[in-house]
Amino acid sequence: MELPFAESYRIKMVETIRKSTPEERQHWIKDANYNLFLLKSEQVFIDLLTDSGTGAMSDKQWSEMMLGDESYAGASSYYKMKEAIFNITGFENFLPVHQGRAAENVLFSVLVKEGNLVPGNSHFDTTKGHIEYRKAFCIDCTIDEAFDTTCEHPFKGNVDPQKLEDVLKKSADKVPFVIVTLTNNSAGGQPVSMENLRTVRQIADKYGKIIVYDSARFAENAYFIKIREEKYKDTPIREIIREMFSYADVMTMSSKKDAIVNIGGFIGMRDHELFRQCCTFNIMFEGYITYGGLAGRDMNAIAQGLYEGTDFEYLNTRIKQVEYLGNRLIEFGIPVQHPIGGHAVFVDAKRFLPAVAREEFQAQTLAIQLYLEAGVRGVEIGAILADRDPVTRENRFPKLEFLRLAIPRRVYTNNHMDVVAVALKNVFDRRDTITRGVKIIREAPIMRHFTVELDLA
Ligand code: F0G
Repeated sequence: MELPFAESYRIKMVETIRKSTPEERQHWIKDANYNLFLLKSEQVFIDLLTDSGTGAMSDKQWSEMMLGDESYAGASSYYKMKEAIFNITGFENFLPVHQGRAAENVLFSVLVKEGNLVPGNSHFDTTKGHIEYRKAFCIDCTIDEAFDTTCEHPFKGNVDPQKLEDVLKKSADKVPFVIVTLTNNSAGGQPVSMENLRTVRQIADKYGKIIVYDSARFAENAYFIKIREEKYKDTPIREIIREMFSYADVMTMSSKKDAIVNIGGFIGMRDHELFRQCCTFNIMFEGYITYGGLAGRDMNAIAQGLYEGTDFEYLNTRIKQVEYLGNRLIEFGIPVQHPIGGHAVFVDAKRFLPAVAREEFQAQTLAIQLYLEAGVRGVEIGAILADRDPVTRENRFPKLEFLRLAIPRRVYTNNHMDVVAVALKNVFDRRDTITRGVKIIREAPIMRHFTVELDLA
């Protein structure tokens, strides 16, 4: 008999979580203005708001925390992180920053100018925010298959080469760089194939453009290349990663994802002149170039986390858990993005709650219902997150309206996944009774989803 699958780690420390009653949750969600970001964490039983900074560090990472060098300049922790980044990605130059969006802020301060166009595959919201804040525009060149949740495609994160080429053919002079997000978070944690990365490189070279990888989940992307791209099935993860980055010039990284730390990020690059320019902004916004807003101990934990996060057994455990939740939902007939992505299951709220008007925010409505059902917190990746058009100020209704259930790394067991799946099934069974959504009472001018205040429509 074949041995069943089991996690590649065991548990040494635990944290108590508490259930609540439906009445308590009714009260709390109303107090939070129906925005799940405004809940207190103790009001949540299973927290799938994000996989960012919510992972469990290992015994080795905690040991590294004790070895942190807290010198202002030239700390050994900086060199430890530099070595790990070089070993794993091949980038010689790097700047530490406090998280992914800080890397965007520093890099885009050098690269993005008013009126620029930045083509890519479903820019993440902070990426879009930092581009639009500089009065430049994002052009989404993701393949069409990504927008049909029923379509099975192994690499729905891919850039459509034709769409990219069209942008460059028409307006190359306005394009400072091409950005590729690995994995493509907004389309459902969907990977980009090696073949596609190579093609994007060829197109960029044709027009003399540099390529930036938004690399938050680069290791999960490499795992999918190994599993789904025939040619790479016997290639070690680290080799796949080296090849992926060989097609890029710069990387921004939120270490809160695939480096499995609670805070931190960096920018990696080859070009020395670009590095020098970024240094100035890093010092202004983040901190001196050898710490960039991080403590020495944080840099040590990142260095160790980069090695652990790129280990096949770890990745296999991680992605199989996400798949487990996805498969349970599929068994219940719940519409989700197919195939299941790397860090989260994306529930198709348009198909789940067709009776709720788009103007009443279907995915947010579903997130509220799931919270009321069992204290499970997911997040809306839909029209609220999509913000208003910066020019017309009209609501933007994206092609996909998702409730994202993001799984923190090494935190929950599959029993928790079962609770989430059954809770969502219970909501699914009463979906016909859910006909009204929510309306916006107050919102910020940019990135409104974090603080938006809502009421029942
Ligand atoms: N890029 C991608 C693809 C991301 O998913 C995120 C963050 C960032 C950049 C920004 O990194 O949070 O460290 O500043 N994503 C989190 C999420 C917040 O929930 O998906 P950060």
